[in-house]
Parts: sequence; C-alpha cells; structure tokens
Amino acid sequence: MPFKLEELQKAHEAYRQFAEKNPPAHHARYIFPFFTGSYFAYRKVDVLRVVAVAKAVNDNPDYLDVGCGYGDFLKRVREYLPGASGVEKEGGIFYALGATKPDYIGIAPVESLSRPVDIAFVGWMEPGTDFRRQVAKTARCIITTFDAGGQCGINGGCEYDEFGFERIAWWRTPSWIDVNAELMNRYYTPSLSEEKKRHLASLRSAHNFWYVYAKPELADKIREALAYIAKKEDAKKEERYDFESVLDECGFGYKEELATVTTAKRLWEVILD
Ligand SMILES: C[S@@+](CC[C@H](N)C(=O)[O-])C[C@H]1O[C@@H](n2cnc3c(N)ncnc32)[C@H](O)[C@@H]1O
Repeated sequence: MPFKLEELQKAHEAYRQFAEKNPPAHHARYIFPFFTGSYFAYRKVDVLRVVAVAKAVNDNPDYLDVGCGYGDFLKRVREYLPGASGVEKEGGIFYALGATKPDYIGIAPVESLSRPVDIAFVGWMEPGTDFRRQVAKTARCIITTFDAGGQCGINGGCEYDEFGFERIAWWRTPSWIDVNAELMNRYYTPSLSEEKKRHLASLRSAHNFWYVYAKPELADKIREALAYIAKKEDAKKEERYDFESVLDECGFGYKEELATVTTAKRLWEVILD
C-alpha cells in the first residue's frame, strides 16, 4: 500500500479512471484492494467464523480491527457486532481523498493503545510491519490473516505461540494478489491464447492464511464454536456476498481443491489444531 499521501492520491486517480471504464462487476475490488476491498479475499463465511469466535470469547465482545485501513472487512463484521471498532495509524488516508472517517475507526498506532480487548483482528500487514507483541498484550483472542510469502518481521511468519497464545484453527484463502493474477490472465492480457489461459489457471495458488489464536483457557470454547459453524455453513448458499462470484469464476471456489499446494489443499476448509 502506498503510504506517501501523494502516491495514495495517484493510485486513487488510477482507480477512478479504471472505474469510469465500467469494468466487469467487482473487478476493482481485486485490482485496487485498498480503496474498495481488502488485501485478503474473504467470503461471508469468513465474517461469520470471525463473529462466532468473538461470541465464544464474550457474548458482547470488545472487537478491534488493527490496521483496518478504510474498514471494508470491519464494516461487514459490524453487521453482526455493532460495537466493533478499528484502529488505523494513517489518518491521512481519509483526508487525502476527502473521505469521511467513520466514528468507529480511531486514528492511532496500535502501539499507543492500552485498553484490553476480547478480540484483535489483524488483516494482512505490509511485509516488515510487526506489532505482534503489542497485540498480544492487548487481546485475549487474535485472528490474523497473512501472506505465506512472508510478513511480520524478517522471519516471515505471523505466529503468536511465543506470546503465550495457543493456535486453535487455520484455513487457506486467496490473497488479493492471487485473484488479481487470475483476473489479469483472463481479462486484461488480450495476447494470451485460450490454451495458455487454461494452463496458467491450472497453476493458480492461494497464499493467504487465517490463524485463530487464543489464551489457553479460551481454547476449548473457541474450538467448539468454530467446529460447529464450519459444519453448519457447508450447505448454506445464502451465506454469500455478491463479489464472491469473482472468486468462483477465478477458480477459488468454496472448498475447491488446489493442485499446486501441499497443505490445506481445500480452500476455506477449517483445520482444527
Ligand atoms: C496492507 S494495509 C491492510 C489494510 C486492511 N487490514 C486490509 O487487509 O485490507 C495495512 C494497514 O495497516 C495500517 N498500519 C500499519 N501499521 C500500523 C500500526 N502500527 N497501527 C495501526 N495501523 C497500522 C496501515 O496504515 C495500513 O492501513
């Protein structure tokens, strides 16, 4: 994500010009994720899982989205947890675009927060950004998404075991980059033959992981809640957002098996630890 506000404005201008050309529905979400989506490509089932975990921790959970940007995912969570809030370090992302900052997003670095929360959600940090120590001090349960390519400091992983947390479950989904690559091959590279497109599609992968961590005393309750919701969600066709059509079309279907990966081969399959 461009942090210099001038670059942000330039990127937003590119987004505006793209949108003016009436591209197919929801493509912008995966081409300009910061402005109109999120860096992790979620489905409604992800929101429902996160909400189920939060409610397992506390009936009326104090939920904080750390580094929430414009709050795309947070907005969805608030449909179920109206008190959920976010913290974002860069207030300039709002004023540089003349955008209204919602009241439920506070502008501050997470390092400056001292109030404890039940749940911290950390969605896809820039490589090298690593505030795990602070998040671990603040929350009882942490849900994090990160790119398998390496984030959180020099060693890449975004684990919380070393801070006294237990991993409860995990699942694999695509990152915006995975979806973006498929869209580029299918729609925005006219020189590619159909055969080449099919070949490239067979190589598609998904690099975003969701990890659920909690303090050991909460582990059983959360594990139970996740196991329950994961089983129940299977047949629920109405649990979808309209933009999920792009994920389906690009070969990132719910429970689709990928040939290119060796662990968690079925997308969105919850693996309990
Ligand atoms: C890659 S963006 C991800 C935004 C959103 N979570 C998503 O996945 O689409 C990372 C965001 O975290 C914010 N951020 C980085 N360090 C932070 C910190 N120490 N405290 C709060 N926010 C931070 C950045 O300003 C940026 O908006």
